[in-house]
Amino acid sequence: MTSRSQLVIVANRLPVDRVDLPDGSRGWRRSPGGLVSALDPVMRANDGVWIGWPGGTETDLEPFEDDGLSLVPVELTAEEVEEFYEGMSNATLWPIYHDVVAKPEFHREWWDAYVRVNERFTAKAVEVAEEGATVWVHDYQLQLVPQMLREARPDLRIGFYLHIPFPPAELFAQLPWRRQVLEGLLGADLVGFQMSGGAQNFVRLVRQRVGHKTHRDLIYLPDDRTVRAAAFPISIDTGSFEELARQDSVAARAKEIREALGNPTKVFLGVDRLDYTKGIHARLRAFGELIEDGHFDVEDAVFVQVASPSRERVEQYRILRDEIDRLVGHVNGDLGRIGRPAISYLHAAYPREEMAALYRAADIMVVTPFRDGMNLVAKEYVACRYDDAGALVLSEFAGAAAELRQAWQVNPYDINGIKAAMLEAYRADEKETTKRMRAMRKTVLTRDVTAWAGSFLEALADIRPGHGKAVKPVSPE
Ligand code: G6P
Repeated sequence: MTSRSQLVIVANRLPVDRVDLPDGSRGWRRSPGGLVSALDPVMRANDGVWIGWPGGTETDLEPFEDDGLSLVPVELTAEEVEEFYEGMSNATLWPIYHDVVAKPEFHREWWDAYVRVNERFTAKAVEVAEEGATVWVHDYQLQLVPQMLREARPDLRIGFYLHIPFPPAELFAQLPWRRQVLEGLLGADLVGFQMSGGAQNFVRLVRQRVGHKTHRDLIYLPDDRTVRAAAFPISIDTGSFEELARQDSVAARAKEIREALGNPTKVFLGVDRLDYTKGIHARLRAFGELIEDGHFDVEDAVFVQVASPSRERVEQYRILRDEIDRLVGHVNGDLGRIGRPAISYLHAAYPREEMAALYRAADIMVVTPFRDGMNLVAKEYVACRYDDAGALVLSEFAGAAAELRQAWQVNPYDINGIKAAMLEAYRADEKETTKRMRAMRKTVLTRDVTAWAGSFLEALADIRPGHGKAVKPVSPE
């Protein structure tokens, strides 16, 4: 049994994945995500507990420790995976929150499962949170948890952070359960967003749809509570990425990758979860057209696209996979030569070392989402370019665009605009790319994920200073 804690993280995913060990037994491996590296120090300083779903439908899972972190698994049935995770979370909320890039589906039984699963996460948090503890709830899968927790445990200090964009009021209004979601989030003392635009959308919706008084970033509830909605742009573990990129083995691997690609003059790179919000199709089409138009040849340039498998049982993701397969086949069939495909397409996920080598091997990183909360890949690329080399083409609809202003910014719906930016980045001289990369590195180095977590927890502690226990801060290294 896990002991009670004064810091509880509640996220849909646990920070570990199931793996089969060489001796035939099953174990856990730390997942590569940035959230766990951000929260690791503060979790350790406060003997924190992390509540989450380990993926799959395994039953009889007990709380356990992994590398000193206390983890509490939440189980989902096969039906709940379908209705709560694939359905309500990823076929209703995900598309609505991403500008309706795909058509959202509304099903009442999905909503019922969403409520049920949010209750289950809440029950675990109620069990493990000490009197006056801080509970930090994450992301769109768990928007009802703050209110459910508040009702069960008014002693807690509750924070919520949304990792994806919060949509404009006109789009959010489509959601049949819009009021329940807003009220769910209002259970928190602090609701954090990637961008101030998202926080403003939320405050406006609360005023219009729930009828509470608001002033700037504050919402006044009838029970005398005040909720704050503000932006906390997330970042990455910059130092550890740079350190990795500096390793000799990574440099050697980067060289090997370029050789395997036939040592072209320039390597373009895209790295994404295979998701329709990421604009993968548009950028590959732009690349193909640049070759067709005669701006460069397959000897001069190659595009490496890494697309990690994601949400593969959701229909829109299957459709996307087929579309990308078809486009890559078409471009390579028309433009490639023997041993020289125009696009090197990898439908797989790789460890951090391999990603760092790819970032080092790439001259031009292309990130073109139609809508993205932040886009950490863009920041990872910058973190790995300690040589101040490399160019970034970045969608203006990624949260990262607000900070990485020196990237070649594009409208991802404008294929000619993407082509022009890719060509400019391809032709840019060293002086230009260095100037831009240096400025972007300054931003990413100063605002890392530890600073992000620290500023959220500090703001949360400031809301009701006399209430609950304070989370022990972690001093910067
Ligand atoms: C986004 C979401 C996360 C989610 C991740 C991976 O970054 O904000 O909440 O965990 O995608 O998606 P998955 O569905 O595999 O958890």
